Formats: sequence, structure tokens, C-alpha cells
Amino acid sequence: MLKLLFAVPPLLFIALLAQTAAAPSAQTAAFAQTAAPEPAAASEPAAPAEPATAPEPAVTPAGPVPDTNPVKPTAESQARAAATYKIDCSMCHGADGNGKGDLVADMGLKMQDLRVPATLQGMSDKDLYILIHDGKGKMPAEGDRAKPDDVWNLVILIRSFAKK
Ligand code: HEC
Repeated sequence: MLKLLFAVPPLLFIALLAQTAAAPSAQTAAFAQTAAPEPAAASEPAAPAEPATAPEPAVTPAGPVPDTNPVKPTAESQARAAATYKIDCSMCHGADGNGKGDLVADMGLKMQDLRVPATLQGMSDKDLYILIHDGKGKMPAEGDRAKPDDVWNLVILIRSFAKK
């Protein structure tokens, strides 16, 4: 399914190249919509309609990610992670990870409690890195707002919510 989202930007790019001379964006979009399901149907017949209806995907692929967390946290790096969490995460996940941030009701989010060990148990550090970097569903991508080391520190920080 994610593969489909990744397939859309290159197609849009190709569409733009094909219509460099005064291309109204509506035409470009129409082209992208007709073009998108093609490779999708070939590789993943399960959901051919998805890319056509999805707006700009919130996903920005992380690129190669090491399997294990390469970061040794320090008091300073964790303080920085806590500051980032407060700004970029707490409005949904809650200040202490309880899943009761201010935006939850407005956005109609279904949140899990990060303080409960089971919430993150099935996810590796690498899974969490990719999730935070790329975003998922209604969760926005941290993308390149945070440096790789800072994302790893966020992984360590959110795991610590369950240990308190
Ligand atoms: C706009 C609200 C929003 C923001 C901001 C947000 N998240 Fe999320 N987060 C979600 C939602 C919704 C899910 C469930 C996604 C899904 O499974 O479709 C989620 C899932 C997660 C998960 C997987 C476990 C779980 O609770 O489902 C982790 C870990 C996580 N977010 C961490 C973070 C971190 C770290 C940040 C800040 C860098 C962040 N999130 C910012 C909404 C948000």
C-alpha cells in the first residue's frame, strides 16, 4: 500500500515534464489521476483507486535506516527530544503520552496510550524511526524537521513513557 503513495510523486513529475508549456494544474492532476492506477494495478491489485483519491501523501520516505538505534542518549539530547515532543507530538499524543492531546477530538483521532508497554511492544526502534520520520495515516511526517539523531532520541523518549 505505501508503495502506491511513493509511486505518485514520480508520476506527477513525469506529468509535469510532459506538459511544460503552459499546463494548467487541473490538466496535470487529471493526467496524474489517469496515469496513477496503471502501475498500481500491476503491482498491487488490491487497492487501485487509492492513489487517485489521495492528496499529497504525508509520507516522506526516510531512506536507508539502520536496524538498531545508533544513538546513545545524553541528558542534553533527551532534553532536546522532550522539547521537540512538546512542540510536534504532544498536541496529539498528550504531554505524557497518554493519547489525550488537544487535537484528538477535533481531528477525530483514535489514539493509543504510549505509557502502556503493550503499545510499542510490537514495534522495533527502526519501525518507530520510520513511523516518526514518514508519518502514518493522520499522523504528520516529522520528515526533515528533525535530524536523524533527533528522531532516534524521540524513539528513546517515547519508549521511556512506559517506564515511568
Ligand atoms: C496530528 C496528530 C499527531 C501528531 C502531531 C503526532 N502523532 Fe503520532 N500518531 C497519531 C496517530 C493518529 C497515530 C495512529 C496512526 C495509525 O496507526 O494510523 C499515531 C501513531 C504513533 C505511534 C505508534 C503507536 C501508536 O500510538 O499508535 C507513535 C510511536 C507515534 N505516533 C509517535 C509520535 C511522535 C514521536 C510524534 C512527534 C514527532 C507524533 N507521533 C506526532 C497522531 C499524531
